[in-house]
Amino acid sequence: MKKTVLTFAEAKEQGEKLTMLTAYDYSTAKLIDGAGIDAILVGDSLGNVMLGYEDTLSVTVEDMIHHGAAVSRGAKEALVVIDMPFMSYQTSVYDAVVNAGRLMKEGRAGAVKLEGGRAVCPQIKAITDAGIPVMAHLGLTPQSINAFGGFKVQGKTEAAAKKLVEDAMAVQEAGAFALTLECVPDKLARLITSKLAIPTIGIGAGNGCDGQVLVYADMLGMFSDFTPKFVRRFAETGQVMTDAFKAYIAAVKDGSYPEEKHTYKIDDDVIEKLY
Ligand code: KIV
Repeated sequence: MKKTVLTFAEAKEQGEKLTMLTAYDYSTAKLIDGAGIDAILVGDSLGNVMLGYEDTLSVTVEDMIHHGAAVSRGAKEALVVIDMPFMSYQTSVYDAVVNAGRLMKEGRAGAVKLEGGRAVCPQIKAITDAGIPVMAHLGLTPQSINAFGGFKVQGKTEAAAKKLVEDAMAVQEAGAFALTLECVPDKLARLITSKLAIPTIGIGAGNGCDGQVLVYADMLGMFSDFTPKFVRRFAETGQVMTDAFKAYIAAVKDGSYPEEKHTYKIDDDVIEKLY
């Protein structure tokens, strides 16, 4: 059965943990979906993981539609959430609604995600009023990396923690159906989770959130540019791939691949006429 924002609300009500992983292409989405995940996030981390940028700032709405549509084709049951990229919603409420609409119409998302607190509440309200579910994102919001001065844990001082709590309440009030909390101390994330009626999805925010999200390439050990402290590698797929690539190169070089069983046949009398 297709998972929706109602799945998120029910899970919070019943105290069941929600699961989310990123994906950026059809085949990976199909595998993750088949494993029984609740939601797939087409994160703008695609800028780092798929496109090789050093941050997420250069990712465009077109990039998100292109990859989002592929993921949507692969996800039969999971809720697909597509990230709104940098400057696709900060500029105005109008831009936010138009771009969220494109992610739904062209990317076939079930919801969109955007970063920020009170400053983007008018956008969250307008997008939600247009019938588009919004997941909010607070804490370390990578689109503000230049304002933060680097990838740092957020909400550690009293003032910063108070602001995070207020922002969390504000995005819920504006209509967000869920909230991603990234790189937030676990006790603060637990407090915010207890105050909110909507589910929190943590990444580097401890075990007290209503669910968890990870970048799939991180948890599979496929992305080695940097590995945040909160990542558990559930497999060493990067090593498995490297070994397979090396085995392929060796087999082609020594002629052991392709074998007879990998080839197509033609009648000998056809071939003989060509000599
Ligand atoms: O872009 C992304 O992958 C994200 C997750 C880190 C939550 O926003």
